[in-house]
Amino acid sequence: MEYKELKELMIRNRSYRRFDESKKIDACQLEKLVELCVYCASGRNMQPLKYRTVLSEDECGQVFPLLGWAGYLTEWHGPAEGERPVAYIVQCLDRNLTDNPMCDDGIQLEALTLGAVSLGLGACIIKSFNANKISEVLSLEPGLVPRHVIALGVPAEEVVIEDMKDGDIRYWRSEDGIHHVPKRRLKEILVK
Ligand SMILES: Cc1cc2nc3c(=O)[nH]c(=O)nc-3n(C[C@H](O)[C@H](O)[C@H](O)COP(=O)(O)O)c2cc1C
Repeated sequence: MEYKELKELMIRNRSYRRFDESKKIDACQLEKLVELCVYCASGRNMQPLKYRTVLSEDECGQVFPLLGWAGYLTEWHGPAEGERPVAYIVQCLDRNLTDNPMCDDGIQLEALTLGAVSLGLGACIIKSFNANKISEVLSLEPGLVPRHVIALGVPAEEVVIEDMKDGDIRYWRSEDGIHHVPKRRLKEILVK
């Protein structure tokens, strides 16, 4: 893959929060995404992260109410019926291996979400969730601690990035439903 294609994939790799719920994902696609984590760099090469996939309607229905969506969109309380994620991948730390995943979690989250875009899907990384309840509804074995939830589906919204103005980091949604994400420009993150 050339740089230009990688950059294009990264630009398309936005946080999607509204999906076409009629378009399903299969178990094989979820496994393909998790497989990408096998190839990631890992601090001390410990590889302490494990993944629980969630695909059935029953489990998706139990996970959904435990998630917090788009804190800056105060008037919006998450995707409505018909636009909810059709699958989740729960990233867990195996505390039998270590309590410190270093930055493996972020590296693998990017691999998973880039992989999702490459399969024609969209993803949203979610940190705001009820970890105890997630462990309970998914019957996670003791020692596995959920760290992030990745919501997945075929996107049913347009997300655009734009130059940040006056340091305002808040994403926003315009009247036409487009989700806008301010980003700092290259010259702002390059330290002289
Ligand atoms: C570590 C992390 C935690 C996040 N947690 C949440 C969350 O709990 N709920 C949510 O709706 N979005 C969450 N997001 C998505 C961010 O809001 C999103 O990445 C940010 O607004 C920039 O948008 P972009 O991903 O399209 O660039 C999270 C993203 C990251 C990287």
